[in-house]
Amino acid sequence: MEPVKIGVLISGGGTNLQAIIDNINNGNINGKIELIISNKEDAYGLVRGQKENIETLYLDRKQYNSEEEYNLELIKSFKARKVELIILAGYLRVLSKDFIEEFSGRIINIHPSLIPSFCGKGYYGERVHKAVLDYGVKITGATVHFVDEGTDTGPIILQEPVRVEDSDTLDTLKEKVLNVEHKILVQAVKLYCENRLAIRGRKVIIK
Ligand code: GRF
Repeated sequence: MEPVKIGVLISGGGTNLQAIIDNINNGNINGKIELIISNKEDAYGLVRGQKENIETLYLDRKQYNSEEEYNLELIKSFKARKVELIILAGYLRVLSKDFIEEFSGRIINIHPSLIPSFCGKGYYGERVHKAVLDYGVKITGATVHFVDEGTDTGPIILQEPVRVEDSDTLDTLKEKVLNVEHKILVQAVKLYCENRLAIRGRKVIIK
């Protein structure tokens, strides 16, 4: 099968992106990253792409009059490279309706909690783990899901739990969850690239 053309959106360190790069390089994922776009100029994920000779692009939101215009540029950039699958790997901006429609059923996001807990507006990055620790839950985890027009509300592809220990701090919990994120994001992208994911309403069936 031809490798699936992948576009990645990032805003930060890009450790999830790196996990995808590594699993493409070792043949585990039948994909090819055609373009990495960041909304942050200093996102280390851009460097990770450059080291692999993957095309990278920094798009400055301030150069555009609206979120819609910014997203139209994102769409244009990915379509110009015939990208099929979009991966949000720590991307912190909201996607427009146009973008979601353009890539409907082909946008995968990784979230650092067991959705529907600790997700939605304002729940990203370390804020998620702080809310988990403050609440005192015993189990958290990570979720990979298809993106719909809501925030962290699309059909769930994979989840994996992480036990919260009394001794856990923000940093130890973040580390544990991030390792699980890498694992299930790679697995979900692999399944997509092998055409083994089917969306049935709110459910994702693994064929
Ligand atoms: C992490 O907090 C992760 O949970 C979320 O985005 C953040 C950055 O991840 N998905 P990365 O290292 O940039 O992939």
